[in-house]
Amino acid sequence: MPIPATQFIWFNGKLVPWEKATVHVLSHALHYGSSVFEGVRAYETPKGVAVFRLRDHTRRLYDSARIYRITIPFTPEQMNDACREVISANELKKGAYIRPVAFRGYGEIGVTPKIDPPTEVAVAAWEWGKYLGHESEEQGVDVCVSSWQRVAPNTIPALAKAAGNYLSSQLIGAEARRLGFAEGIGLAPDGTVSEGAGENLFLVKDGVLLTPALAHSVLGGITRDTVSRLARERGIEVRECAIPRELLYIADEVFMTGTAAEITPIRSVDRLPVGAGKRGPITETLQNAFFGLFSGKTADKWGWLDYVDMSSPRTAAAAR
Ligand SMILES: Cc1ncc(COP(=O)(O)O)c(C=O)c1O
Repeated sequence: MPIPATQFIWFNGKLVPWEKATVHVLSHALHYGSSVFEGVRAYETPKGVAVFRLRDHTRRLYDSARIYRITIPFTPEQMNDACREVISANELKKGAYIRPVAFRGYGEIGVTPKIDPPTEVAVAAWEWGKYLGHESEEQGVDVCVSSWQRVAPNTIPALAKAAGNYLSSQLIGAEARRLGFAEGIGLAPDGTVSEGAGENLFLVKDGVLLTPALAHSVLGGITRDTVSRLARERGIEVRECAIPRELLYIADEVFMTGTAAEITPIRSVDRLPVGAGKRGPITETLQNAFFGLFSGKTADKWGWLDYVDMSSPRTAAAAR
């Protein structure tokens, strides 16, 4: 799906017209993947547009940058403001997908330059629907285990949300789609279950929720954390552990989580139906709890919703 352009992108500290947010072809990140980013969602709620877990996403952005020693020349609070600003300036009243990115820009072309190229920082936002299609939320999707494994520990750090990591995701996701599946699951180098190309994974077995631990080459997903907390609050036991591949074939329920995928049930793995071959009851309970955060049915006791002030957005943006 082409990106539906909006009017403004926040670029290195100010709003610029969408088409003017461009970079040099010799930018370091373009050649070596030295870019860290986030995917954040804003939802339309009864109290106005709210960004979901904005501070947690921003913290992960700074953590990713720290791992790669990329200095972001703005404070986390300035980044949070930028995320809110692209929503209001573009009048994204129905919610949005927000993409903050920080990367090594134009300077030297060496892989490890003597003088660090300047870090460029941008935040864009646009309206976005369901990542894996509307029906998938109820019907579930068909996935396969990929022939590509996730990165090994101490090679490319999986906990950093860095552009280079997504070469692995591209291989896993593209192979799955070529074979007619909605998504691919990557195994960790030890053969245990890791995660989807762009989603964390949960399995339900005998009423217990299982998810691969952080050491299994996964991204520490914010939706993963949300689901774990919502589950525990509802008395469902959650275990972070090593998951053998074959547990995918005998689990009662399997689902994926992510900012893009939200909570998407998996109805088959490698053409074997999961449970009854449709969304299971625990998946549905957790979906209701999750989406209830945005409809107001689930109390936001963690302060996860960051409301955006949409007042006079155009005048504010035009004044720059
Ligand atoms: C590889 C990978 N794993 C998991 C996730 C889920 O993370 P989150 O819930 O923070 O979006 C994502 C999406 O950001 C991802 O790209």
